[in-house]
Amino acid sequence: MEKYPKLFIKASVFYLVLGTLMGVLMGTQLITSAGFRFVHIHVNLIGFMAMFIFGVAYHILPRFNGRPVRYPDWIPVQYYLMNIGLVGLLTFYMLGGLWEAGMKSILLGFFSVVTGISVIMFAINIVSVLTEPKPVMTSTPVPLQAGNEEKKTLSSIPVSVPASQPVVKIPQTPPFPAASGIGTGKEIKKGETCDGGVMIGKLLETYPETRKVFAKHYGESCFTCPGQKYETVDQTASMHSMDVNVILKDINEEIEKALKAN
Ligand code: HEM
Ligand code: HEM
Repeated sequence: MEKYPKLFIKASVFYLVLGTLMGVLMGTQLITSAGFRFVHIHVNLIGFMAMFIFGVAYHILPRFNGRPVRYPDWIPVQYYLMNIGLVGLLTFYMLGGLWEAGMKSILLGFFSVVTGISVIMFAINIVSVLTEPKPVMTSTPVPLQAGNEEKKTLSSIPVSVPASQPVVKIPQTPPFPAASGIGTGKEIKKGETCDGGVMIGKLLETYPETRKVFAKHYGESCFTCPGQKYETVDQTASMHSMDVNVILKDINEEIEKALKAN
């Protein structure tokens, strides 16, 4: 799982515990302040509920719809704005910002806007994920042995690339959205080279040496994702907005090394 979706969920659990403790203090009437009720409500609803939803949505929706978020760089910014905004909002509400004109009131407004901006950033990013699934880039493997001809896909449009690189083909109609095609990939046996249609789980079983390629391009969090096992190389490259041929080249280099070593 990526860093910031995980941080959103960790923060949300923290706010749940905090909000619940506040609820208990209110329920047991150890605290009766009206302002505390506002804090309890917003810690629970913005801190816990909204942030939990942000974390899960950022992690799962791009996979469900086969489309990465449009502005991944916004996610860390959104995370900090949300937390700073919430803490500021609660602090200046408790200090009386809603009733007293002046600096406290201005700062309450400021942190309200900060929280609001963070929510809007989430909305824009998540709506971008829900647009049409991205076409999955398909590719042909670099043949290891001479005479191992590339298989041609009828529905593919070749894209012009330098002669030294394998041809990238973009299907006219996407064969499947990255996530809904999960589990439809193929297996790979020892001695075979990898193409875009091979499932990562099977590839790692047959050639564990290729693990470092995924770690290098997608990061270690890739291996904790349950979808990883069933996604094809094409699908993962598409999800990470990467040229699948770069990944395949590295994978096949590792395979070649592994085969030579045996
Ligand atoms: C052990 C856990 C909790 C306790 C003991 C608790 C207790 C309370 C108490 C005493 C009130 C004040 C009621 C009033 O003054 O009218 C309240 C209000 C509220 N709580 Fe909690 N709460 C807990 C957890 C939660 C959670 C997890 C959420 C949301 C995810 C939540 C959301 C709310 C909301 C929205 C209100 C305001 C309801 C209204 O406007 O009438 N609470 N809670
Ligand atoms: C930028 C974000 C937000 C700001 C600045 C904000 C601010 C406020 C303010 C000023 C009040 C009135 C408090 C009063 O009358 O004393 C309020 C009430 C309330 N807000 Fe928010 N809010 C925000 C987001 C949310 C969200 C996302 C939720 C729910 C998911 C929510 C749930 C509530 C509820 C249930 C009340 C009623 C509390 C009560 O009954 O006293 N708020 N909020």
